[in-house]
Formats: sequence, structure tokens, C-alpha cells
Amino acid sequence: MEEESEMAKKGHLVFAVNGQRFELFTVDPSMTLLEFLRTQTPFKSVKLGCGEGLGNSKVGFHSIHKRFSGFHASQCGFCTPGMCMSLFGALVNAEKTDRPEPSPGYSKLTVLEAEKAIAGNLCRCTGYRPIADACKSFASDVDMEDLGFNSFWKKGERHEVNISGLPLYNRNHEICTFPAFLKREVKASMLIDSKRCSWNQPSSFQELQGLLKSYDANNGVRMKLVGDHTGIEIGASVTISKAIEALREESKGEFISASKLVFKKIAGHMEKVAAKFIRNIGSIGGNLVMAQGKHFPSDIATILLAAGSFVHIINGVIHEKLTLEEFLERPPLDSKSVLISVRIPNCGSIKDVYPEGDSKLFFETYRAAPRPLGNALPYLNAAFLAEVSCSKSSNGIMMNSCQLAFGAFGTKHAIRARKVEEFLTGNWLTNAVLCEAIKLVKATVVPDDGTSDPAYRSSLAVGFLFDFLGQLVDSSSNGWLKGYSGISMLEDVISKEKYDNLDHVKYPTLLSSSKQVIELNKEYHPIGEPITKSGSALQASGEAVYVDDIPSPGNCLYGSFIYSTKPFARIKGIRFNSKSLPDGVTALVSFKDIPKGGQNIGLLLSFGPERLFADELTQYAGEPVAFVLADSQKHADVGAKLAVVDYDLENLESPILTVEEAVERSSLFEIPPVICPKQVGDFSKGIAEADHKILSAKIKLGSQYYFYMENQTALAVPDEDNCMVVYSSIQCPEYAQAAIAKCLGVPEHNVRVLTRRVGGGFGGKVTKSMPVATACALAAHKYQRPVRISMNRKTDMIMAGGRHPMKITYSVGFKSNGKITALYLDILIDAGISLDISPMMPKAVVGALKKYNWGALSFDIKLCKTNLSSKSAMRGPGDLQGSYIAEAIIEQVASFLSVDADSVRAINFHTYDSLKLFYDVSAGDPLEYTLTSIWDKLATSACFNQRTQMIKEFNRYNIWKKRGISRIPCVYDVSMRPTPGKVSILHDGSIVVEVGGIELGQGLWTKAYLEAVNLSVNSFFIPDFASKQYLNYGGSRPSDRANNNFEIRYLYDCGQSLNPAVDLGQIEGAFVQGIGFFMLEEYTTNSDGLIDTEGTRTYKIPTIDTIPKQLNVALLHSGRNPKRVLSSKASGEPPLLLAASVHCATKAAISEARKQLHSWGCLDGSHLTFQVGVPATMPIVKELCGLDVVERYLQCKVGRN
Ligand SMILES: Cc1cc2nc3c(=O)[nH]c(=O)nc-3n(C[C@H](O)[C@H](O)[C@H](O)COP(=O)(O)OP(=O)(O)OC[C@H]3O[C@@H](n4cnc5c(N)ncnc54)[C@H](O)[C@@H]3O)c2cc1C
Ligand code: FES
Repeated sequence: MEEESEMAKKGHLVFAVNGQRFELFTVDPSMTLLEFLRTQTPFKSVKLGCGEGLGNSKVGFHSIHKRFSGFHASQCGFCTPGMCMSLFGALVNAEKTDRPEPSPGYSKLTVLEAEKAIAGNLCRCTGYRPIADACKSFASDVDMEDLGFNSFWKKGERHEVNISGLPLYNRNHEICTFPAFLKREVKASMLIDSKRCSWNQPSSFQELQGLLKSYDANNGVRMKLVGDHTGIEIGASVTISKAIEALREESKGEFISASKLVFKKIAGHMEKVAAKFIRNIGSIGGNLVMAQGKHFPSDIATILLAAGSFVHIINGVIHEKLTLEEFLERPPLDSKSVLISVRIPNCGSIKDVYPEGDSKLFFETYRAAPRPLGNALPYLNAAFLAEVSCSKSSNGIMMNSCQLAFGAFGTKHAIRARKVEEFLTGNWLTNAVLCEAIKLVKATVVPDDGTSDPAYRSSLAVGFLFDFLGQLVDSSSNGWLKGYSGISMLEDVISKEKYDNLDHVKYPTLLSSSKQVIELNKEYHPIGEPITKSGSALQASGEAVYVDDIPSPGNCLYGSFIYSTKPFARIKGIRFNSKSLPDGVTALVSFKDIPKGGQNIGLLLSFGPERLFADELTQYAGEPVAFVLADSQKHADVGAKLAVVDYDLENLESPILTVEEAVERSSLFEIPPVICPKQVGDFSKGIAEADHKILSAKIKLGSQYYFYMENQTALAVPDEDNCMVVYSSIQCPEYAQAAIAKCLGVPEHNVRVLTRRVGGGFGGKVTKSMPVATACALAAHKYQRPVRISMNRKTDMIMAGGRHPMKITYSVGFKSNGKITALYLDILIDAGISLDISPMMPKAVVGALKKYNWGALSFDIKLCKTNLSSKSAMRGPGDLQGSYIAEAIIEQVASFLSVDADSVRAINFHTYDSLKLFYDVSAGDPLEYTLTSIWDKLATSACFNQRTQMIKEFNRYNIWKKRGISRIPCVYDVSMRPTPGKVSILHDGSIVVEVGGIELGQGLWTKAYLEAVNLSVNSFFIPDFASKQYLNYGGSRPSDRANNNFEIRYLYDCGQSLNPAVDLGQIEGAFVQGIGFFMLEEYTTNSDGLIDTEGTRTYKIPTIDTIPKQLNVALLHSGRNPKRVLSSKASGEPPLLLAASVHCATKAAISEARKQLHSWGCLDGSHLTFQVGVPATMPIVKELCGLDVVERYLQCKVGRN
């Protein structure tokens, strides 16, 4: 109490949440708002908090919630409240502008702003298209016809109907007001103090200096300066968002046009930094100080450096003004120094040096990152400022002065390329001069040792400088900078005109257009209608309850896993890296705490168990070693972080970390014969018939992390009579029930597992939730207290396992016309340490691979046991890999024969007879083989031949951009399982529907509701034996510019769709997840096998700026089949396979680039036989297109002159 009143004297914190007053006398300044909301307010999650602010089921949902629901933009719902709040923020900001009043029902937001509002938000379910549509529906400049499939209107209805059909957006209700009571509480200075940390808000330099001085006396105190974001100039504490606004304002003001250009470009570049919500709180000063002292790959430092900026710092009473370059080169700022401001000079000073008036100033900024907008740090950034003049006599261009800055390439801080600047200054710009300048760039931009992709980063530096200067060289012969208007110079001037005529598609917004074509199934009306997902408005408002939203019972403990960092080591002991037990930590639970009669089991499947905790010996890096228990999740996580496991490696065998080692040491799992795939035909006969052979070619496929938005969570509550109630985010509660019972040594009926909904799974919540729930149950059992966990992303990523990596070696024989006669594959599947579901993988891989008629198909598949985390089911497990392997082989055959891959695909399509031979009973009746018609429709509806021709033309006229097109099929062997369902009609006539599945975004309840309308009893769906398995077909055709600007046409056989809205959502979401696997996501390990891509900083799933610009999906309404559920077909997994088409189109584009290199004499004859790694990340693509392509090009040009 004494301490509290002391605090009260010093000051307290008063603030408002949703208008409600909160007053705190003590608060730990390190506590985040999220943590505060979740633990100390009735708003049980950020989602719930936001939701109650905008609306809910009691007071009515907000139009944002209703539109998200109606546009089918919420699947698992975990990301939806965040998306809604981002949109809401953008709407509020748009209202503050002086734009003209929009028409009723619209806002002042523009379409592009609406899309950008969610550019940094992640969604793993929807593929973003429906979310973008919901957001765009609020924009004043939206064309309603462009909005996708929704429940508000049917396509073709008149505009007025569409607008009035939307839930009303009332602009007058959207103004967020600062509560009046809070204004009265705001004081000039405030101090929060707690036992460990204090928070000061000085209101003058003097006060700040006094504080710095007082802390000086206090040895060992760590201080962090945090901006208050209220600056009016580019002061250090001005947020990036405010700085952008100010720069944009200044670029309209009275500065000379050169300065305006610089401000505009800097503002434009800053808009690509992080995400809007980070720019709203991140300060310019914080960014520069991180860039200066912490090697942070800042964009802001680089662009301000090229603009010749100055900084102002104070240290005690000493004020210093120095150039940004000097500042960056200094040792890190000490804790007594403060960065006050940064000044971008007026470009007039440069103009004064060349008063003749025939000089021009250019400024351009560059950035290469895995995502253009959505929260990805750059591989390299650059900014160039150049003052050039034109000689009237020689028709050449002279570089008068330049400032060239490069950063983020694996360097301590951004640098000025002084040698390059000196060389260029006073030189006429010619190709020969560019060649020399580029050599100097390569010698200057050298990434530090240990930086990933160093050659790629250097080549980017070269490319960017060439882009900047190349056009100045060209323009000398095309008139004085004619046509230069800041357009990327990588586009050849002449080619560009041709390209503009060729390319009818313009991409002004992130998602330029989409089309969904469906045919409603009337037979079982209302089943077949595109009904909105049940509960989607609840999800959007944040009211929907996930496991971690359940309030903690009294006396609850929180757990966090300590995992091993060594793959194969003796555990000598576990201790904490602190003198006493870390704050709040109460106990450690390990294998020693398994009760008598119980077993050390955390995961249990029919193939076998996996242990819960390592015992004396670890088996893989990432294996749970113990469970820290504490009084809060934060304390438990900090405790686990502070834990040190002592290992002993003496006299132990080396771990098995690769599939090759596993084979060498015979570390293999058995595959039960009953689920072994069957070979087809006689390989020796088939290969003998071949005209050509490719022998022992290799393919390598990596892993993928689920990246569900809701990490693994569980809450275990001890119940009477030795029972345990466990709330778990698991997809199969019955599995958790069995594992927990085995671990505790109690009968299964003593364990009750409850799952209401799951925030996304993609396979990761099938088996991998079991150890999480079991650890909580074990701890709860031991201490007879509730125990819960909400895993942090890092631990989740390390323990998750993910998709199965594979190495494939194949030999294929084929005729000269491309008809394949025989295929043999050696497939090594990395299963990790335990079986999990791995025995099912071979059948799945081969099942998808059989989509083509290989003549004879033979294989040897080994399931390798390695000292790595056990791999599990991930959406389309095995099928995804099998389908890709088939395409990679087809492409290799096409390359060998120098024909296009599409013709090789076509010639190897199954006839119904060969389909029957390869798929046996799954093949169904001849009429069910819809793939050939899908293939033909894809060609006609997507104008395949015209597009192919257009792309050929494009590639012929463009040196620096290449495009590719590809069309691939998919065949997916679906197995149905018996499933119970129950409908109860209660006394008042209300109905309860229970289904044998868990809702994790797939719209299960919505489909169940529709199916159950005509039922009145229990039912147990047992699939007809003859149609227990069936085939799903689909095809997709992307055309790609190898720069994310791709367009997709997609045709999918959904049988008779039960709910086309749900099926479309599944198809688009799966496809985008597949794009992540094939193009972006690298789930890698260190040399001990420990996952080292352990967060959003390194693991990049698609965001709205990396999805196809045009996404057209059509559902093929294929025939009636009473043996399937109301003639429907699965839609959740098969569409993922078709994302391989993006990879194939990229390969086609790379192939064009390589042909060009070959024509310049830079590649030998093998230029067409190359493999593209998966994922085909930017460094991989660039390397295949030629890291030194600019140098080669210039050499050719110089040689010709
Ligand atoms: C997901 C994510 C993505 C990002 N992507 C990018 C990107 O692509 N490009 C890019 O450039 N940046 C990026 N950032 C960085 C972002 O711009 C910075 O986080 C932000 O600018 C830092 O500002 P802050 O105010 O939060 O700094 P803080 O975290 O508050 O401060 C950082 C450090 O600077 C010190 N400090 C702060 N102000 C001063 C001052 N005035 N004087 C002396 N010391 C001071 C603090 O004590 C602290 O040590 C990203 C950040 C995140 C989280
Ligand atoms: S709906 Fe977006 S993550 Fe599930």
C-alpha cells in the first residue's frame, strides 16, 4: 500500500479502452497493450477488445463485420478481427482528409488504400482475395462489378441494387473521439514507476538532460529512449507515418521541383517500410539509431543518406550537427546521447553549382525484398541522386555530381559508394563508363561473411545502378532525356512501346481483378446455395471464443516448453541462467513426473507413439525436454528462455541429419504392405521401347510450416474422480484423449477433450496438438491445478515438424514425340524421428504422381528415420510433392526434346483405360473422368494459345523482363471416412446439430447445417465401398512475369458443390498457400537440425501484395454421383497441388532469360536443362537468369561499339 501511494504521488496512468476509463497506479512499462488487455481487462483478446469497440451480436454487428461475412472473407476467423480493425483505421484516416464527400454508403477511402490497409496483415486461410473485396466495397472509387462473389447480390444485377444491397456504412458513426475525461488527465510530464522499470516523459530538453544526468549516476542502469510521436518536423520521435504525410505535404509546397521530387520519392519508399501499423508507431529516430548501432538493415538510413541528410544529436549539454554518413560511421550512440532530428537538405544548393540551367537532377530509390509491401526486410536497398547536364556539342550526358547509397546488404550500416561517385563525377555517361562503374560497385557492395545470398545482393546493386544510369546513356542518343519520367529503365525504350500495345492488362491496384464462375446445384436446394459461413460475423467482431480466450480458472498455472538444441545428446541437467528462480516460475515438469502407470507418451497414433519429453538422451533438436510452470504466460516463456540444458556428447554416435545418412546407416521405418502403393506395368519393357532416356536426374523438396494464425493452445482442468477436462486447439480431440489417458495412466473415459473451433490447422492441428495438450494435462494432474499454454510463435515453429522433405532420383524413357514409356523413381522421404502419419506418404506421393500415363511406373520409396523433428500431415501431404514431381519430370523431358512442356503434358494424358489401370477402383465411371474436358475448357476460356503467342512476342521485345505461361492438371485420390452426425430437436423447436468434425475454417458447420435440414435422427455416414475413393480433377494456368505480377486461371471439379462460397474459399486459400510453398517459404534448420526460420522475420507466407494480380476461378459442376455426399467433392486439399503451375510458369520465364543469355554467348548448350529449386525465391530465380546479366549485356554493347 505504501508503495502504491508513493506511486500515486509520482503519477499514474489513466487511459481509455473503448471509451472505458482505466487508472493504474503501478504498471510495468515493459507490459504490452496486448498483454494488458488479455490479462487485466474483460476484453479477453485483442480480437474481442476490438470487436466490442465496433459492434457485436448483442448491440448489432458493424457494417465491416457484415461485409466480411457476406464476402466470405472469414474462414478460421483468427485473422479477421485484425483485418477489420486495419480497415476501420484506414476508414477513420480517410475521413480526416479534405476529399470530396462520397456518395451515400461509400467512404472517402480509395480502392488502393483499402487494399493497402491490410498489406501487412497475415491470413493463411482465404488467399486474401475475398478480404480485399470486402475492404474495397467501402471505397469511393470502387467499381462494384469488380467485386467478387458475395451473398449481397448476384452478378449481373444493376449497380444501384448492389450498393443498396450492402450493409449500410454510416460515416457519421465512424469518428473516433478522444474521451473528454482523458483530456483533463493529460499532464505535461508523467512518471510511471515499478519495482524494475520506470517511464519518464520529459517535456523539455532541460528536463531530458537532467534525467540523462541522473541516470548517469546510477551505474548499470539500462535506458531505452522511446519517441512520443508528436513532432511537427522530422524530429527523431516523429513516426514514419507522420513523416510520410509531412513529406507528401512538402512535395506539394513551395520547394523547387527537384526537392519536391526527392521528398516524394522518399515518402514513396517509406511506404514500403514494414506495415502501416508499424509505421504508425515506429519513429524515424528509432530506425536511424537501430541502423547506426545495431546493424539493422534500415531503408530509411539508405534513402536519407543518398539525399545528403544531416542529423542533430545532443550529449549532455553538447549539441552536434553532423552528416548522416558521419553519424552512421561513428560507434553506437551511448546511453546519454539523444538523436534530436534529421534534416533533408534542399536540392537548391546543388542546382546553384550548375547555374546554366541545362542540368537536371534525378533521384530514385530501390528496394528488393521477398514481399514488395508486406513486412519484409530488404535483401538490399539503394538510393541515387544525380545531377547531370547535356553537352550541346557532343550530344552526350555529363555526370556533374552524384550521391549513391546502398544498404541492408549484410553491412554494418548503409554506405555511400564514394569510389563510384568519384569515378562517375565529371565523366560522360557511356556504356564503357557504366561498365567501369559497375566493377567499382561490385568491389564496394560486398556483404559481410555469413550473409545469405551474397552474390545475389551484389548483383542487385549492379542492377539498380544500371537501372538508374542506363537510361541516361540511352537517352543521349534519343534526345535530352526524352521520355524519362521515373519509369523503370529496365524496360527497353522501344520494347516498352511494343509491350504497351501487346499487354492489355494494367495493374493499377494490388489485386487488379478476379472472377468466380459457378453453377448452382439446385437438386438439393437449399443445399448448393452460397450461404455465408455460420458464425463469420462473430469471428469478424472478435466475439468468437478460441481456446486461449477462455478465462483462466482461479489458481491457474501457465506452461512453456524447454526444448533441446542438440539432436543426440545426454542431458546432464537443466538449470536457470539466473541466480534465483526466474520471476513467477513455480516448477519444472519433465519425464520424471509421469505418474505411476502412465507412460512418457505425447503423441499416439495407430502407427506408433512419440514420447512427450526427452529422457536422459535427446533424439532431435527441438524435442521437448521439460515444461516450465509459472504464474503467467509471459513468466513461463521468459523462464523457458532462461533455462539452460547441460549436454554431454561424449562417446555418442553422430546424429543422422540427412536422408542419405539414414540410408547408409539403415535407419528406415517400415511401410505396412497394405498401404504400399502399387507399381504399374513392366519398367524394363517400357524403357526398352524408349527413343531417349534421362537417367538419375534429381529433385529436392524442402519442408513447409503450417503457419496457422492461432498457435498451439491448451487448457487442462483437473476434475472430480481422477478425471481431466482439456480444452485443446486440436483437430482430432479423440487423439488427444487417447494420448493424455496413456500418459496419465487413466482410462480414456476419464479424459474429456473439448474443441469449439480452431484458428487454422492445415494439418498442424491433427497430431502436433497432442503433446501440447498432454503436457498441460500432466502438469495439471501433478499439481492438481489448472494449467494452460498459448505457445509463442518461435517455440511453435521449432516444434511443429511440418511438411515432409524429400529427395528424388528418377530415370525416364520417352519417344521422340514426348510420349513417356517408363518411369522409375527412388524417393527418400525424411520422416524425422517418429512415424506420425509418415507411412501414408508413399501412397499419397504416388497417387498424385499417377496423373500422367507413364507407360510403366516403378519406384523404390524409403521412409527415413532421422534425428530431426517428426514430420506430419500438412495440407495435401505427399500429394503436393507427387504432383510437383510429375510436372518436374514432364518439363525435363520437354527441355530435352526442345519442345514446349504443354505438348508433352497433353500427349501423356490418361485415356480412361490407362486411368483405370493406374487408379483402379478410384477411377470411377468413364463419365466421371472430367480432366480432359477441364483441360480443353482451360485452353479456350483462358485463350491459352493466344496468351502463349503474346508472351512469345513480349519476350522477343523485352530484354529485362521475361514472362512464362504454363498449364497443369491435377488428379487427387480422395478417401472418404465413416463420420457420425446427430440432429436433436429440442422442446422449443430449436435444433442442435452435432457433426463428427472440428471447425477450423473449412465451413464445416455451414455445410452440416444445410445437410441436416431434412434429417431428424442420428446418422452414421458410411461411404459406399465401391466409391470410398474417388478422383478430384482440376487445372490451372498462370502466366507469370517472374515478378509477382501473375495472372491465374483455375478450373476445378467440385462435383455438385454443397456450398460454392465455402468451396471457392477453400480453393483460393489452398492455391495461395501452395504459392507460399513453391515460391516463398523456406523452413530451414541449422547444422544441428534445429529450425532456424523461427518467426515472421525470416519465414514469409504470402501477403496481399504477393498473390496473383488476377485470380479467376471456375467451379466445374460435374455430374450427379449418389455414392458421394450429395454428389459433392472435396475442395480443401486438391487445389493446393495446382499452385505448382506458378513454379512451372516461372521456370518458363527463366528459360526465356537463359535463351537470351545463350544468344549473347554467355551460356553453353545446356542452358535449357536446368532445375528450379522449391521454393523459387528471388535469389534462386535471379541466379538462374544470370547474376552477371547486366555486365554481360554492357560488354556486348561496348564490344559492338
Ligand atoms: C515487422 C517489422 C518490419 C520492419 N521492416 C522494416 C523495413 O523494411 N525497413 C526499415 O527501415 N525498417 C523496418 N522496420 C523497423 C521499423 O521501422 C522500426 O521498428 C522503427 O523505425 C523503430 O522505431 P521505434 O520508434 O519503434 O524504435 P524503438 O524500438 O523505440 O528504438 C530503437 C532503439 O533506438 C533507441 N532510440 C529511439 N529513439 C532514440 C533517440 N531519439 N535518440 C537516441 N536513441 C533512440 C532506443 O533506445 C532503442 O535502443 C520493421 C520493423 C518491424 C517490427
Ligand atoms: S481466416 Fe485468415 S487466418 Fe484464418
